[in-house]
Amino acid sequence: MNIGVVGGAGYVGLITGLGLAEIGHRVINVDLDEGRVGQLNSGHSPIYEEGIDSLLKKNLATGSIQFTTRLAEAIVPSDVIFIAVGTPSGLDGQADLSQVIQAVEGLVQHITNYKVVVLKSTVPVGTVELVRTLLSRSKIEGEDFDIVANPEFLREGKGLKDFFYPDRIVIGTHAEKPQSIMRELYRPIIQREVSWESNESADPGSGHIPLIETDITSAQMIKYASNAFLATRLSFINEIAGLTERVGADIREVALGMGYDPRIGHSYLNAGLGFGGPCLEKDLLALIKIAEGNDYAPVLLKSVLERNDKQIETVLSKVKEVTGHLLYKKVVSVFGLAFKAATNDVRDSMALKVIDRLEQEGAVVQAHDPLAIPEAKVLRPGLICADDPYEAVRNSDVLVILTEWPVFAELDYARIKKLMKQPAIVDARNLLDATKVRASGFTYTGIGSV
Ligand code: UDX
Repeated sequence: MNIGVVGGAGYVGLITGLGLAEIGHRVINVDLDEGRVGQLNSGHSPIYEEGIDSLLKKNLATGSIQFTTRLAEAIVPSDVIFIAVGTPSGLDGQADLSQVIQAVEGLVQHITNYKVVVLKSTVPVGTVELVRTLLSRSKIEGEDFDIVANPEFLREGKGLKDFFYPDRIVIGTHAEKPQSIMRELYRPIIQREVSWESNESADPGSGHIPLIETDITSAQMIKYASNAFLATRLSFINEIAGLTERVGADIREVALGMGYDPRIGHSYLNAGLGFGGPCLEKDLLALIKIAEGNDYAPVLLKSVLERNDKQIETVLSKVKEVTGHLLYKKVVSVFGLAFKAATNDVRDSMALKVIDRLEQEGAVVQAHDPLAIPEAKVLRPGLICADDPYEAVRNSDVLVILTEWPVFAELDYARIKKLMKQPAIVDARNLLDATKVRASGFTYTGIGSV
C-alpha cells in the first residue's frame, strides 16, 4: 500500500513510517521540521532507538521510505494517511490539538481520491468529531475518506520492537471498508511474518497478534486507560514503598512476592522516582480533563498524579538526610538525566525535576548521563554536566541515581568513593546492590527499604 505519515519526523511518526516500510509498504513521511527531514534523508535518525539507524538506511536505499516537507507529496499518492503529530499538554492539562488541526486542514486540500485517515496520535475522545468536521467541509465520509483510531503503544527505546511484535493492535472504526484496509495493512505483523532483529534478541512469540476491532471512542479509551493503569501501578508501588521503609520491609521483596500472582504480574512494579516522559503524565492529565468535561470526578486518577509528584520531595529529603538540612553550596552528583534508561529523551524527566529542586535549595549539581546530556542542555543550558561519570562525582557530598541505566551499576565504586568528598549514595531507582555498595564503605539509601 501507499502510506503517508504526517508528523513523520517525530517519534511516533518515524517508528510507524519505518515499520510500515519494512513490512512492505511504500511510505512517505512528511514533517514541517526541515532540519530533521534533511537528517533523515541522509540516513541519520534524530531519535535514539534500538536498531533504528540500520533500518532507516536499508529502507532509504530500497526506496521504501522517503522524507519530505511538502504535504502534497505524501498525501496525493497515498491510500492510508497516518496523523502522528504531537498533542502536548496545554496550559490546563487539556491536549493541545493545534498540530492535529493544522495537519487535517492541510491534508483535506490534497484529497483527490478515497483515503483512510488514521489517528495515531493520542487524541482526546471527541477529536474525531473535529477531524470529521474539518474533512466533511469539502469531502464526503465513506466516499472520499474514512477515519480510523489506531493508537500506538510504543515504549521509547523499544519502539521498533513494540511495532513489529506488539501485544495487540487496536483498530477503531465504524465502517467495514477501512477496517479491512487496516487489517491488510498490518497483516504481516498480525500473522507474525516479520523478522526484524534489534541488538536485543526480540522474541517474536507465536500465534496471531490479538486484533481488537472496535468503535473509535473505545479504541481511544483503550489507549488512555492503558497508560493511566500503568501510571496507577507505579504510584501504587511507590506508595507501598513509602510504607515498607517505615515498617522495616523491602519493597523489592514485596513486589517480587506480589508479582507471582498472575493477576498482578511482575512487570512495571519497580518502585523508584515515579513516572516521567512525554506520555504517561500527559495522557493522565488529558484523561482527567476528559472526565471533568463529562461531569465525572476522576478521584483516583488525580491522586495517581499527586502521588507521583510526591516522589520528588521524597528523594530530596533523602538527600538532605545525608547532607544535612541545608543544601546550600553542597555538591550533589547526579547520575541520570533521561526520563528512563535506553533513551536520550528528557521530556518531563523526573530527574530534571529533582535537579531543579536541588538547585532551588542552593546545591551545586554535577550531572552525568550516557546519552541525554545534549538534550538536557537544551532545556537546562546552565546545567553542569560531565561526559565521564568519574568526573561527575569529583568532590561531591552525595551521589544521587535518578535514571535506571544498567551501566551505572557496573561502575568502579571503589574509585568513585576515593573521588567523592563523602561516600554517600541516594539511589532513587533501587539500581545498585545495597549490600555490595555498603560493604565498600558507602552510606546507601534506596527507595522502600531501610
Ligand atoms: C509509555 C507506555 O509504556 C507506552 O505503552 C505508551 O504508549 C507510551 O508511554 P514510555 O513513555 O516510553 O512508554 O515509558 P515507560 O517505559 O512506560 O516508562 C515510563 C516511566 O515510568 C519512566 O520514567 C520509567 O522510569 C518509569 N517506570 C517504569 C518505573 O519507575 N518503574 C517501572 O517499573 C516501570
